[in-house]
Amino acid sequence: MKRLVWKSLPVQAIAIVLLAVPVAAQSKTTVLVDVDNRKALSLNGDWHYIVDPYDGGLYTFHREIRKDGFFLDGAPETGSDGLIEYDFSKSPTLKVPGDWNTQHDSLFYYEGLLWYQRDFTYQLVAGHKTFLHIGAANYKSIAWVNGQQACSHEGGFTAFDCDISSSIRKGNNFVVIAVDNTRLADGVPTLNTDWWNYGGLTRDVSIVDVPAKYIDDYDLHLNRDRTAIEGSVHVEDAEPGEEVTVSLPELDRSVSARLGADNRAVISLSVAGVALWTPEHPRLYRVHLQAGQDTLDDSMGFRTIAVRGTDILLNGKPVFLRGISIHAEAPIRGGRANNDQDAATLLGWAKELGCNYVRLAHYPHDQRMTREADRLGLMVWSEIPVYWAEHFGDPAVLAKAEQQLREEIRRDRDKASIVLWSIANETPLTPERTAFLKTLAADVHTLDSTRLVTAALLVRSEGHDKYVDDPLGEALDVIGMNEYIGWYEQLPQDADTTVWHVAYQKPLIVSEFGGDAKAGLHGAPTERWTEEYQASIFRHQLPMLAKIPQFRGLSPWILMDFRSPMRQLPGVQDGYNRKGLISNRGEKKEAFFVLQKAYREWSSHSPASGVSAHPVPGTDNRSRSAVPARDKVANPDE
Ligand code: GCU
Repeated sequence: MKRLVWKSLPVQAIAIVLLAVPVAAQSKTTVLVDVDNRKALSLNGDWHYIVDPYDGGLYTFHREIRKDGFFLDGAPETGSDGLIEYDFSKSPTLKVPGDWNTQHDSLFYYEGLLWYQRDFTYQLVAGHKTFLHIGAANYKSIAWVNGQQACSHEGGFTAFDCDISSSIRKGNNFVVIAVDNTRLADGVPTLNTDWWNYGGLTRDVSIVDVPAKYIDDYDLHLNRDRTAIEGSVHVEDAEPGEEVTVSLPELDRSVSARLGADNRAVISLSVAGVALWTPEHPRLYRVHLQAGQDTLDDSMGFRTIAVRGTDILLNGKPVFLRGISIHAEAPIRGGRANNDQDAATLLGWAKELGCNYVRLAHYPHDQRMTREADRLGLMVWSEIPVYWAEHFGDPAVLAKAEQQLREEIRRDRDKASIVLWSIANETPLTPERTAFLKTLAADVHTLDSTRLVTAALLVRSEGHDKYVDDPLGEALDVIGMNEYIGWYEQLPQDADTTVWHVAYQKPLIVSEFGGDAKAGLHGAPTERWTEEYQASIFRHQLPMLAKIPQFRGLSPWILMDFRSPMRQLPGVQDGYNRKGLISNRGEKKEAFFVLQKAYREWSSHSPASGVSAHPVPGTDNRSRSAVPARDKVANPDE
């Protein structure tokens, strides 16, 4: 790759060159849907990197943005003091995708700015647009192509696509991406989390080619009476009146529609007799979309999800969610999960456990996880990292959370497996927080009227009694709650006498319970940190939960041990949260088999099967909500 070689240029020319470096106005950033099915040049592999803890590659000594920053990919002249004190070509490399923490010991705890650089050659297609696709960059990032800034992004777990049509060229190119994983008080998530702050380009990076007019968003879903596929397709840079076609070749069904003034075509395609997507039969269809020169082929399942009273209805029938929580931690090797094998292993273990559902905590996972859940028949709770004590009074934080919610839904709305969008986890009960989250709940219903909104709430204790009466519940379709009887409070056997008071006649999912155990550490069931103690928590928790009338699902914490800076008990935790039913080395603990046995029994006779969808006498019927948000919509599943 020929770079600007400074030696051959007289000083005044260098000044002119630097000032001339076009720092393009922020180009367009979007989220390309179905991007994994588009034509793309993968940039995965070795990238040179430079660690830059003082941001010297971006700022001058007076903290102004440099015009000659590392983004120019300059090379020092040889044999002189040179104007440049870096050289990507002589710098070490990192694998992309991949967090940097687990690739080099010197980066294990690194929090700060790190530069990535690689060269690539490209064959332009005349008249087409070109995007730089970044599956995820944790936490903030700026991308340049051939020295021109393409985009910047905040948020460590959502994909984004930068229009680089004006900066990419035929033949040789170079791309530089600066990633900074410094935790921010006003970030989403905020400063403290019970997971490792893996930094870097943690998911795929590629160059995506699209026609000048391209399909940039679509929402295709089964209508409520399951007789037609409805929704819309948006075509960017098209003209109203142009045609869009959606077809399902396997059903020999096709429909064409014209773009409206907003370049969106409304779709309605009768599909009587379509095989409904269910965990038992996760039928996926090839969906072919055509708009002018652009074509897309997606793989989609079709189903409906709704609530009726205290029931969750999948395709109009009550369903019980036998689940497990999962962090995006790579089995065995550790670090951020980012490949097909990671997804297959994690979700394969969930299936082996007897799950029909998984909670992908606490942030949107790699798209491979939701694609695999579609294929395996696992319903999904997807979540944005509005976690613990966010700065709920700061409008800028709300804007960041809303941005991540939009990006998450935009990328994954075509996944039948996703049935729940979660907007928060264990947030402190304040008026500011409740207002903030009610805004997010309303956003979910606006962005996606076909799925349910939930959140993992904290519970309140009065003596031995537990209360689920967080006011946020009024805005949720499904109530999630985390409780840790037997671990963070009381003893496992105290679950036997705990009385639950759930203030809402809505479906309740117990989104977390559990306890730590070091795999292979054995002792009496009364001995903390042993597998026997963890199993005892499960043996006492499950019958307690089954008695709650609104109990409609659970996702115990957690499938696999995961790294956390909060978990430092030597010889037991050693930097890992040990609540996994499986260790980070893949060893199944006793509690795995306790839960697996319960799920085998509940697969034929779920705890909710004998419970009416209507209030059960003797339960706490103080329902705060007049009509829960979801029920306001006319619903043939009523
Ligand atoms: C909390 C939290 C998790 C955390 C877990 C624990 O409920 O939601 O992120 O890891 O409990 O303390 O292990």
